[in-house]
Amino acid sequence: MTQDELKQAVAHAALRQVPQGEIIGVGTGSTVNFFIDALATMKDKVRGAVSSSERSTERLKAHGIEVFDLNVVERIPVYVDGADEIDPSGAMIKGGGGALTREKIIAEVADRFVCIVDASKLVPVLGKFPLPVEVVPMARELVLRRLRALGGEPRLREGYITDNGNVILDVHGLAIANPREFESSINQIPGVVTVGLFAHRGADLALVGTATGVQEHAYV
Ligand code: 5RP
Repeated sequence: MTQDELKQAVAHAALRQVPQGEIIGVGTGSTVNFFIDALATMKDKVRGAVSSSERSTERLKAHGIEVFDLNVVERIPVYVDGADEIDPSGAMIKGGGGALTREKIIAEVADRFVCIVDASKLVPVLGKFPLPVEVVPMARELVLRRLRALGGEPRLREGYITDNGNVILDVHGLAIANPREFESSINQIPGVVTVGLFAHRGADLALVGTATGVQEHAYV
């Protein structure tokens, strides 16, 4: 199976996690694009979606799925999103697609986080994938210095501005032994909007596409 076929398989499997008649959270990325396309096949059974990016919003609307402002939504029973890496505890690196801030906000509101990935995203320790950090532009050099002091090699994502008007530093060379502590440390740096470590609010369930089928990993 190709990587796209694995992504498609988990995207379809995620439909079983979608409760009827509710507003669900929808993430961003190539795996989520397959999920949005799959969701369109049952669009009459959902009320709509809260979206984590302009890209996903466009795709949802193109399928005729209503997109709600998070501020008018009290409850999101499930949030479906991909990840760049996921460890055995369900902690993730996210933000390869640059949507980490809105993703983290929606994940915080959601009752359940269902992560959809192909097997290449499973890792024993987070950090091989460069950790994205969204930063207010005027704080870029300050945050660069602080991230270096924490042991990483931050690099500006050239020519990229987030949906929120900020820049992204991708931090290379990490092996994140304690994701919760590391997430808290980076959150303490003034100018950091969001770090793409999802450890305090990790996944509740991962659907993992493998050559032999979709595996379910539940986290406590
Ligand atoms: C976007 C994300 C994505 O979930 C992550 O980058 C995985 O993307 P893909 O499904 O394309 O591999 O965090 O900000």
